[in-house]
Parts: sequence; C-alpha cells; structure tokens
Amino acid sequence: MTVTIVGSQLGDEGKGGVVDLYGDAADVVARYQGGDNAGHTVVHDGETYKLSLVPSGAVRGKVGVLGNGCVVNPRTLFDEIETLREKGLDPDVRVAERAHVILPFHRVLDGIEEDVKSESDQEVGTTGRGIGPTYEDKAGRRGVRIRDLLDPDVLRDRLEYVVPQKRALVEDVYGVDVSDLEDPEAFDVDALHEEFGEFGRRLAEEDMTVNASAFLSDAIDDGRNVMLEGAQGTIIDIDHGNYPYVTSSNPTAGGAAVGTGLSPGVVGDGEIVGIVKAYLSRVGSGPLPTELGGVPGDTPGYDEEGDGPEEEIATYIRDEGGEYGTVTGRPRRVGWLDMPMLRHSTRVNGFTGLAINHVDVLSGLDEVKVGYAYELDGEELETMPSTTEEWGRCEAKLRTFDGWPDVDWSEVAEEGYEAIPENARTYLEYVSDELDVPIYAVGVGPGREETVVLEDPY
Ligand code: IMP
Repeated sequence: MTVTIVGSQLGDEGKGGVVDLYGDAADVVARYQGGDNAGHTVVHDGETYKLSLVPSGAVRGKVGVLGNGCVVNPRTLFDEIETLREKGLDPDVRVAERAHVILPFHRVLDGIEEDVKSESDQEVGTTGRGIGPTYEDKAGRRGVRIRDLLDPDVLRDRLEYVVPQKRALVEDVYGVDVSDLEDPEAFDVDALHEEFGEFGRRLAEEDMTVNASAFLSDAIDDGRNVMLEGAQGTIIDIDHGNYPYVTSSNPTAGGAAVGTGLSPGVVGDGEIVGIVKAYLSRVGSGPLPTELGGVPGDTPGYDEEGDGPEEEIATYIRDEGGEYGTVTGRPRRVGWLDMPMLRHSTRVNGFTGLAINHVDVLSGLDEVKVGYAYELDGEELETMPSTTEEWGRCEAKLRTFDGWPDVDWSEVAEEGYEAIPENARTYLEYVSDELDVPIYAVGVGPGREETVVLEDPY
C-alpha cells in the first residue's frame, strides 16, 4: 500500500519528522515532485544528515526513489550520496528515467529572473536552485531527461537545441554577458556534454535509473510498503497555491500519481496524511491573513517593526519555534492557524489523516487563536479565494482558545494522547472536527521520538 505525505500549508510544516517516523514501516520512499529546493534533517544513530534531494528514508536503509515528477540536479544528487557514503552508509537511490535534469543554466536563469522581477517588487523569493526554469523547459518540450544523460548522442542533440536559446535569452533579452557569469560554462554545450555525460555514465554504472512507474508498481504488487513523500506544501502548489508565489510543481496529492506513474486508484486506495503546523510561518512576501505583527520588508504594508501585544506573541512563537531562516537568520513571518487555508487543502488533497506539529511551541501563551473564516467585501468565506490579490484583502475572523502550559513533552510523547494538556487537546480536536479528518499524530518536539502517535497508517 501507499502512504502519501503532503504539506497542508506553506511548506515547512515539519514533514521530515513524520516521513521519518512513518517511514520506518515503509520499504520504499519515493519523492514525486520538486528537487533540491526542499530541505530536511535526519538524525540517525547520533549522526545528523542534511538532505535536500535524496529521500530521507535512504538514511535508514530504505530504497529512495526520485520519481518522474522530480527535477534532479545530478551535482546535488552525487554530493549527497557521497556525503552519506563518507559517513559509512550505503544509500540505495533510484532515479526515474523520465525525471528532468536541472542544468547549470537553470540556476543562472532562476537568479536573473528573480533580479528582474525584484525591480517591480514581483520576486517570488525562490530558493535559486533552478526549479522553475527546469519545469518551464519540461513544459516547453525542450528539457533534458535523466535517461538522455545515458545516451551521448541524444544528450548532444538536446543540448545543441536548448543551450543557444538560453544563451540568447540571457544575452539578448536580459542583457547579461555570459562570459561575466560566475559559471560561464553553464552555456557551453561541450562542457555540459562532458560533465553531464559523466553523470550519465555514473548513473548507468551504479544501476540507478528506473522506470519509476514499473519499479513502484512491482514493489506494491510484491506486498511492499511505499511512502510517497511530498515536498513543499499545498499553498505553494503551482495549481492550488497562491500563484504566482508558488513553486513550479504539484506538492498536492494528485501530484503523487502523476509524479510517480502509480495510478490515482493506487494512491487513492492508500492513506493521504496532511501535515499541519499548529501555527503558520511564511518566508518572504505574499498574503498571510492571520499574521501576528509583521516583518518589515516582507509583510505587505508593514514598514517598521512595532512593539504591540501581537508583536510580542509573534516574537514568542518565533523564538520558541526557531522561526528564523536557516541560512540568513532572517525572522520568518508568523501567524495563527488558518482554517480556510486548511479547508482548501483538505478538499484538494483528500486527507485521510492529519499529523499536527509544533503543538509544544504554542505552550505558555495565555490564549491561542485560530482564524476560523475570512471576511471579504462584507462576506464571510469558509475557504481561500482563487486569487492571491483577493486573498490579500481577506481579514481573518478569529476564535480564541485557552492556552496550555509548558510540560515535559518527552514524557507526554511516551504516555500518549491523554497526557497532552486538556486545552491543547480541545484545540486539536477543533481542527480535526472542522476538517472532518482524524488525527494520526501530534508533534510535541523536534525529535521524532517527541511525537504522539495515534494511528500508524501502515
Ligand atoms: P522555488 O521552489 O525555488 O522555485 O521557490 C518558489 C517558492 O517556493 C518560494 O516562495 C520558496 O520560498 C518556496 N519554497 C520552495 N521550497 C520550499 C520548501 O521546501 N519549504 C518552504 N518553501 C519552499
């Protein structure tokens, strides 16, 4: 059977911990979209592993598959595999022959396009990994796929078609001289052919490429458990998210079928677990109707740091939850849980269970609020509007819950659900009842041991 793990909000819901926990019972862990724009930390036998592309299950001896819906940067792939090997692991990673390859010029274009957009305050705040430009080439039928790397003639044909177009785009449209770039070889067919042809030889030598659809279907037919690991989240899904502030793939559950070649029936017969963070955090600009205070430069219309009660709560949550950029240290925007967002997410994904994380972060507050609806032009909305502009005009209607104390959360995790403070359970049950989805797990701390498991989907 399959268990699909999907972020229900803006990414960063703590999917990694749940994938890690439930992944114990899985034989194969497959990613179905995205690339090295994700980031997860796995702690195993006292070692910490930071991965952005390789599925975390590979650290624990599972077969890790990058499905056809992924975009794969072979530099990152082999760097991560090498790092794992240096730490004494022998990861078994398979890559779909149909997955698309992130080439160096995709990263360059990602950077240039963001710079140009920033001139009119329209930048998305991408991770700069070349994700969008690679999916553009996939849709434009000019992409290079993993299988192409294994055939030098095909690889040359593909590169000879696409590279001059990209060079012209950079030079003639954006006015950037390629020879001034940090990596001028990003636009050199011969250099790319040599480097990426070598990746192809390695992929073949290590027998890493698969027809993902056949590989995963066979695993299921053999009675093996497959986990489908979504990256990012529903509200940054290219179709169902807050366009254009989205990633270029489908993190939603439908993407699990398309991005692996398992049929929708197979995915739908399994479980679909929605990962929910007990509050919201957001990196960069865009609407956030339940936002507390703001972050100057990111929150629309919030130019100066305030010091009111909302800001105080925001700082508390930010500090308790470590809501600061891992690379830049920049504060993330935070807000209360947003039910219209979760109703949208539940409808789109068809969650069969919820894992609600970071419940410990909210402890110690006198009151905890939830945005139960929006008000837009005098009307009450139960779910998110389709456009980001309308979403930006929504005012959150808040419902207040009594706060809960800080307790020994490791003990709570050991003792089980009833050990969670009563007010926190009231909060959790409100969310579950509103969405009509049972709670499968509650995250009460950063480690995977600090999880109260009510249901194991396998
Ligand atoms: P891209 O995926 O690099 O193109 O970035 C597009 C948008 O998705 C940006 O707003 C990123 O911040 C966001 N994003 C991409 N990956 C993640 C993630 O793993 N967690 C949270 N946000 C992400």
